[in-house]
Amino acid sequence: MTLEEMKKQLEETLSPKRFKHSIGVMDTAVKLAEKYGEDRGKAAIAGILHDCARNIEGQEVLELCGRYGIEVNYITNLQPQLLHGPLGAALARDVYGVEDEDVIRAIACHTTGREDMTLLDKIVFIADYIEPGRKFHGVDKVRDLAYKDLDKAILISLDNTIKHILDKGVLIHPDTINARNFIIKESMK
Ligand SMILES: [Fe+2]
Ligand SMILES: [Fe+2]
Repeated sequence: MTLEEMKKQLEETLSPKRFKHSIGVMDTAVKLAEKYGEDRGKAAIAGILHDCARNIEGQEVLELCGRYGIEVNYITNLQPQLLHGPLGAALARDVYGVEDEDVIRAIACHTTGREDMTLLDKIVFIADYIEPGRKFHGVDKVRDLAYKDLDKAILISLDNTIKHILDKGVLIHPDTINARNFIIKESMK
């Protein structure tokens, strides 16, 4: 599928709000790719498709995970929205015809992060957090920082996410902890 065909299909699949968000993530990911020397095409595709499974809910998520061989543990079973990354990656391959493993991996880990994220993983992860439609206290600061110090911007977003999870009293996915620990470890070198 071409990028335009992907956009058309997503517009028919996602809510208008989420489609707009996806365009915002794509545009932001492309800008970050230019800044950090990542492939613009990969950033565009990973950005536009990152939430392609976000509209799937309830039992269907678990059914599709079963079909694609995506592991579900008690954390993701209790919080199936965490599976829209891995499931989106499977759909990117199966429905949207993506073959690039870098793109597929960036989609898979965009929600939780993961240990040792690649540049593309990081770009999509932070683009999801700072795209123009995001409006939360302090977003402008992270937006600026993303173009100056990518790891620091990701660390702030992970910290904010973890704080939010603690406030809500829900389960923390270990990949989020691993993402944070790894970035801190690397910064100590
Ligand atoms: Fe997402
Ligand atoms: Fe998103």
